[in-house]
Amino acid sequence: MAYRVAVVGATGAVGREILKTLAERDFPVREVVALASGRSVGIEVSFGEKSVLKVQALERFDFKGTDIALFSPGASVSAVHAPRAAAAGCVVIDNTSQFRMEPDVPLVVPEVNPQALKRFEKRRIIANPNCSTIQMVVALKPLHDIARVKRVVVATYQSVSGAGKEAMDELFNQTRSIFVNDPTVPEQFPKPIAFNCIPHIDRFLDDGATKEEWKMAAETRKILDPDIAVIATCVRVPVFIGHAEAVHVEFESPITEEQAEEALRDAPGVQLVDKREDGGYVTQVDAAGEDAVYVSRLRQDPTVPHGLAFWCVADNLRKGAALNAVQIAEALHEQGLIQPRR
Ligand SMILES: NC(=O)c1ccc[n+]([C@@H]2O[C@H](COP(=O)([O-])OP(=O)(O)OC[C@H]3O[C@@H](n4cnc5c(N)ncnc54)[C@H](OP(=O)(O)O)[C@@H]3O)[C@@H](O)[C@H]2O)c1
Repeated sequence: MAYRVAVVGATGAVGREILKTLAERDFPVREVVALASGRSVGIEVSFGEKSVLKVQALERFDFKGTDIALFSPGASVSAVHAPRAAAAGCVVIDNTSQFRMEPDVPLVVPEVNPQALKRFEKRRIIANPNCSTIQMVVALKPLHDIARVKRVVVATYQSVSGAGKEAMDELFNQTRSIFVNDPTVPEQFPKPIAFNCIPHIDRFLDDGATKEEWKMAAETRKILDPDIAVIATCVRVPVFIGHAEAVHVEFESPITEEQAEEALRDAPGVQLVDKREDGGYVTQVDAAGEDAVYVSRLRQDPTVPHGLAFWCVADNLRKGAALNAVQIAEALHEQGLIQPRR
């Protein structure tokens, strides 16, 4: 039983990681098609160690006969082409923000709310959450099961790959320019990103928050519990791959450090690395290329009645995007919710 799979946005930071992840995890494919804009037609992208795929244009692609489409071409492109793929009978797993908050589109992190997948039939679209939300809810879920999360205060330290391949080039080129004393003009970010931190990701909303900060709150409520209050400050940092978060959680009922530690050790998708010594914690550089959500610096927060604080790190291109999307496809397959078409 093997599927015909389309990867949409295959030349991008997320699309390339999806191709890599599908091959590494041996997802049962009989054919993989790489799609991107007309600009990329004919470009070759790798699928695993041995295969190379020639990119085709999304615009002209007929999804009839394709079983699963993993989309990451940006929200406005998904808005047009994801429903077109779904209407042709394909199951769409969309990495963009386009459908995440639509009530009849499941927003899924397989370790947290796999039960939501069953509701995909109506639209045939499943949304992958924002990268910063995914890693936070994977770490919160085992703690929520013990003491119910009431409020989260989170500050993020997000890598430039979260803004795509051109943003990665900007950090590289700006860093080099500063060393050789060349002038630099920021294009992908509103201020210089080399040797700097920018407290602004996505656009500003009327209440002064950014859309990225709003997403962390709204998506956490949709995935984990509609009663959780979240206040986020999202910051872009000069790191290529990996997002880190300083998370402060207030619970409904008491929870000790030991209980939290035990729950996190057993939790799917989580690796607790917390030695309380020099280097005994995980950083973005350590997490790049890895699948786990790492939790370090776990400790009681004595400033609220039932509080914990921790540091959480994951590879935004893997668990924050590609891996989560492929895990959704695996869960659909394993739960018998999809069958390859002939
Ligand atoms: N980066 C992350 O950590 C992350 C995490 C979660 C979700 N996402 C979301 O995933 C999406 C892609 O992110 P990314 O980081 O991979 O961006 P990226 O590196 O800039 O790649 C964008 C991809 O979309 C394709 N594309 C653009 N316009 C297109 C069109 N009109 N038709 C077909 N394909 C088109 C590009 O193809 P060409 O090369 O032909 O232009 C490229 O393959 C965004 O919506 C982003 O918010 C990203």
